Amino acid sequence: MAAIRVENLVKKYKNGVQALDGLSLRVNDGEIFSLLGQNGAGKSTLINVLTTYLRPTSGSVTMFGKDIYRESAAIRAQISCVAQRTSIDIHLSLTENMMFQSKLYKVSKSEAKKRMETLIKVFGLERYLKYSVSSYSGGIKRRLDIALSMMSNPKVLFLDEPTVGMDIQSRIAMWNMMKKIRNDFGTTIFLTTHYLEEADQLSDTICIMKKGKEVIQGMPHALREYLRQDMMKISFATKEEAKSCFQQLKSVIALKEIDLRHDKIITNLKNNHSDLEKANRWLLDYKIPFLGIEIMQPTLEDVFIRLTGENGKEVY
Ligand SMILES: Nc1ncnc2c1ncn2[C@@H]1O[C@H](COP(=O)(O)OP(=O)(O)O)[C@@H](O)[C@H]1O
Ligand SMILES: [Mg+2]
Repeated sequence: MAAIRVENLVKKYKNGVQALDGLSLRVNDGEIFSLLGQNGAGKSTLINVLTTYLRPTSGSVTMFGKDIYRESAAIRAQISCVAQRTSIDIHLSLTENMMFQSKLYKVSKSEAKKRMETLIKVFGLERYLKYSVSSYSGGIKRRLDIALSMMSNPKVLFLDEPTVGMDIQSRIAMWNMMKKIRNDFGTTIFLTTHYLEEADQLSDTICIMKKGKEVIQGMPHALREYLRQDMMKISFATKEEAKSCFQQLKSVIALKEIDLRHDKIITNLKNNHSDLEKANRWLLDYKIPFLGIEIMQPTLEDVFIRLTGENGKEVY
């Protein structure tokens, strides 16, 4: 059974902004599901709808087969959400925070204690117990926040951009924590992110959304190939130079129309970088004026362009 099924979801805010525009997706039970999208794509709106804080304009959402609006009380007892703002009380200790959380969910004290000890152990939080919560770094606070949200033993955990602004060490610690939640507790994780790498490293299923609608979902294997393929970027001084080079370079290496982006040529590299050597040699042999040639990792925008064939942006 699907943990979550969203069909044709529309959310129009009072100010007229249509944050969700007929979005559909499916989250499998027990998986880490990543929703990838840029700022303003509608990720937080979707999380707010899925956690029953916002009512959609139209469309349906079921969780484990139940309509989340008709049975919202039952649904709320089974989910937990860590929003972009932290919910820890810095005047309480780590353990006081955890016990307080369990009260909100009406977990018995002895049960809560047991659970707290398990969580502290599983997430390696022992070493922070002796310090006051106000002294924790942002990354530790976030991990505590997630540990808190696990006190109610949720079936689904929602995380809105859990690693935004974190350094790589904290991010890796967070990824390990999420994997533990899935593996040790069987909790389904629904997370949003705008980091390609995060979705790639962590998730069983990826859904990419843009402007309130899914662009592609599932197919983690095929998607991974897109996400991991190196790109070659050739920069020029002007748009005209890029265009003229593009026309000629087409006969040397395979290029698509969407690879010409303003004053740059950006294309994915196949065949072990031999295209890079070919292009480089050709540029030098024919004394083509260019600013630089480099290998780069694809960005979310690159993936969008390749998936949708759209190249509407002029700023690269
Ligand atoms: N409460 C609100 N009222 C009106 N518009 C909103 C509200 N919240 C978000 N929006 C708008 O909805 C769109 C999607 O926002 P959001 O869901 O926050 O996207 P994301 O989380 O992907 O950055 C944006 O254009 C945003 O400005
Ligand atoms: Mg957001």
